[in-house]
Amino acid sequence: MTTTTAPRGKAVSAQTKSATPAATPDVQAQGVSRREFLYYIWGASLALLLAESSGAIIWFTLPRFRAGEFGGLFTLDPAAMPTASTTTAPAPNSAGKFWMSNTDDGFRALSMVCTHLGCLFKWVPTNTRFECPCHGSKFTNKGNYIEGPAPRNLDRFAITVTYNDGSTKTSDANGGPVSIANARLISVDTGKKIKGQTHG
Ligand code: FES
Repeated sequence: MTTTTAPRGKAVSAQTKSATPAATPDVQAQGVSRREFLYYIWGASLALLLAESSGAIIWFTLPRFRAGEFGGLFTLDPAAMPTASTTTAPAPNSAGKFWMSNTDDGFRALSMVCTHLGCLFKWVPTNTRFECPCHGSKFTNKGNYIEGPAPRNLDRFAITVTYNDGSTKTSDANGGPVSIANARLISVDTGKKIKGQTHG
């Protein structure tokens, strides 16, 4: 009976070799190197970061104001608007912080905030004009500057009018008036304030 004894050093070496865990066997089995594997991890992390960034951008650009609250849309009934004339007194919309001005050339939604230093002005019926109590700026019922330290006309909000025939018309870049004759709906976007034009 013969026995073979392997050299001590070699035995340990063989044991160590077999005991060494195969590094990422699945990866090796699929022929993917460690470097490629790390690239995949890095790519996946980058994609996740981009997805999160995109989500954050979309979240911040989405409208965050509900209809009927300042910053959102206000829907008005044209039949409830002041009758149009050159001297028509505007009516306040306190929730929307705008004056509903319906004059001979159309409808405007005028901001209630004075363009000088931000006071709230009033409509003065006896003088048929807006007058600011802080420093005396005055404006017509169309929001045009008359006198005082205010640097520009009253600011206004973008409006869209929907007519009985289904057509629509939106105020221009200056927030110009839109006719509400034969209209069935007025929409005022208090999230879109348009600066009044400066005067000479
Ligand atoms: Fe209106 Fe100064 S804030 S005139």
